Amino acid sequence: MVVEDVTPLRAASAALEDLNQSLEVRVQTRTRELEDANRELQNEIVRRELAEEALRQSRHELELLSQQLIQAQESERRRIARELHDSIGPSLSAIKYSLERGAELHRQARHEDALPLIARIIQRVREAIADVRSIAMNLRPPVLDDLGVASALEWLSREFGETYSHIAVHTHIDATDADIPSHLATTIFRSAQELLNNVAKHAKAKHVSVTLSRDTARVSLLVCDDGIGLPSPSASGSFGTGHGIRNLRERAQMHGGKLTLTSDQKAGTIARLEWAYAAARDP
Ligand SMILES: Nc1ncnc2c1ncn2[C@@H]1O[C@H](COP(=O)(O)OP(=O)(O)OP(=O)(O)O)[C@@H](O)[C@H]1O
Ligand SMILES: [Mg+2]
Repeated sequence: MVVEDVTPLRAASAALEDLNQSLEVRVQTRTRELEDANRELQNEIVRRELAEEALRQSRHELELLSQQLIQAQESERRRIARELHDSIGPSLSAIKYSLERGAELHRQARHEDALPLIARIIQRVREAIADVRSIAMNLRPPVLDDLGVASALEWLSREFGETYSHIAVHTHIDATDADIPSHLATTIFRSAQELLNNVAKHAKAKHVSVTLSRDTARVSLLVCDDGIGLPSPSASGSFGTGHGIRNLRERAQMHGGKLTLTSDQKAGTIARLEWAYAAARDP
């Protein structure tokens, strides 16, 4: 009878088993690590795709914005050309015609006849000077640079009241020129100009009020009318095909402000523009 000593064999087999198990555990751990890494990679891909999409979107918005800027510039140029053509052009033609007639009378030594003509020429020149002044005021009223936006708003409201005498204008300026950060001056002035323009064009109002105020928290411009109210907004939130309100909104946002429009067909329209004072302070 042969009795074999199998102890080394068992030991070897147990060692092999241990090795197997530890290999299995390592393979599982490694597989889990790879799965985690893979998931992280997928997430990263999604994150990058989202970032790319956001970038594409903001590029697109930038393109739209610059197109609008060009359009706004062009329409402003057309308006100035039209005003020059329609107001200064005829005045200068009339002055030229009267001067030619005056020269002719002078040649004929009819000096007495020339006198009323000269008075008319002086009157036409006065009108032309007033036209140039009013066009220049509309482009950039010197009062905005010389004094500040609070005074410029007083001036604007007065001018509006004189031009549209059927609309009573109430102005409440509860801020001094020095209270309003200078980088907001043009925005506030242009916004009031557009809002008043809208009241004259669309509201059929009897009264309009313009309020500029400043407290510790914010600078606000309010234009309220008692007209027919805004039409219902389209699905995209815009009113009609005009650019005025959209430009106001964008102008306000450029300096961290916002435009709120409240409207009621019986009570008219309230346009409120606000800038938080911290954001509004001069940089
Ligand atoms: N105060 C208001 N009362 C009644 N409706 C208004 C008033 N302001 C604006 N609207 C309406 O909102 C629309 C959009 O105004 P918005 O200023 O954007 O354009 P617009 O005045 O028609 O043209 P644009 O300003 O480009 O010359 C107007 O067409 C008008 O129907
Ligand atoms: Mg408008």
